[in-house]
Amino acid sequence: MPATRTAEPADRQHAREQELLERVVRSFDSCADVRLRELLTGLVRHLHAFVREVRLTEQEWAAAVEFLTRCGEITDDRRQEFILLSDVLGASMQTITVANPACGNATEATVFGPFFVADAPRIPLGGDIAGPATGEPCWVEGTVTGTDGAPLADARIEVWEADADGRYDVQYDDGRTAGRAHLYTDEHGRYRFWGVTPTPYPIPHDGPVGRLLEAAGRSPMRASHLHFMVSHAGHRTLVTHIFVRGDELLGQDSVFGVRESLIRDFAQQEPGTPTPDGRPVEGTWSRVRFDIVLAPAETRRP
Ligand code: BEZ
Ligand code: FE
Repeated sequence: MPATRTAEPADRQHAREQELLERVVRSFDSCADVRLRELLTGLVRHLHAFVREVRLTEQEWAAAVEFLTRCGEITDDRRQEFILLSDVLGASMQTITVANPACGNATEATVFGPFFVADAPRIPLGGDIAGPATGEPCWVEGTVTGTDGAPLADARIEVWEADADGRYDVQYDDGRTAGRAHLYTDEHGRYRFWGVTPTPYPIPHDGPVGRLLEAAGRSPMRASHLHFMVSHAGHRTLVTHIFVRGDELLGQDSVFGVRESLIRDFAQQEPGTPTPDGRPVEGTWSRVRFDIVLAPAETRRP
């Protein structure tokens, strides 16, 4: 009679899996870099826990490796699929949340995204960041202060946004600069500029991350927003956006970037309404106020 194979008792199986995990963790015992050891052993523990919890099949693991290979293939110096993956899994926002603990009334941070460009042109206070970007004109103004309320003069403000078609200038194929600039606050910590009223747009979704979203029944759309990066000596650099109150995508932003505290009224203005700086505008325009509070650089992690 042929011998029948029976599954090992569950406790033996558990012990084999546990023994393997502990052997892998111990393999990092002699890692001299303490932080690297903490990161690697933490990663291994969570990865093994995931494999064991979902009872991962070999075919599923091979599909995951294939997916990551496709992410690598589409990544170049203009497209970063791994950051998109981190964004849609909420890992980018979780890292930002951990790294930027709440500090009094300091403005909250949100995702950086892939469309920032260093060395965007400088504009004067009241200047226009739009350039050739299409869209409804939008007047943006506010102050930059510390958590003690003291105005921060000469704070550097980088701003960038998509045009009315939902495209950033780096997605144009002619190299034009549009919808981005930097400016500095005045001696009272005030700033102001013209941009365009933000509109919703999809994150790049013609690659493996887009297919993942599709398979999961999720939308690639981002809620309408305007990006800011604000820096001042002695303060934590703030990377954030403001979102448009009333935008129906606020509750389903594909990268989980929306925070209640960052939603602002973009007040619609009728044609003919005088503009704050006397600039003639033919049609409708909007205006928004965003007062920015920077945390001190020395904020300790909880
Ligand atoms: C963005 O807001 O520009 C963005 C953020 C995350 C992924 C893709 C785009
Ligand atoms: Fe964006």
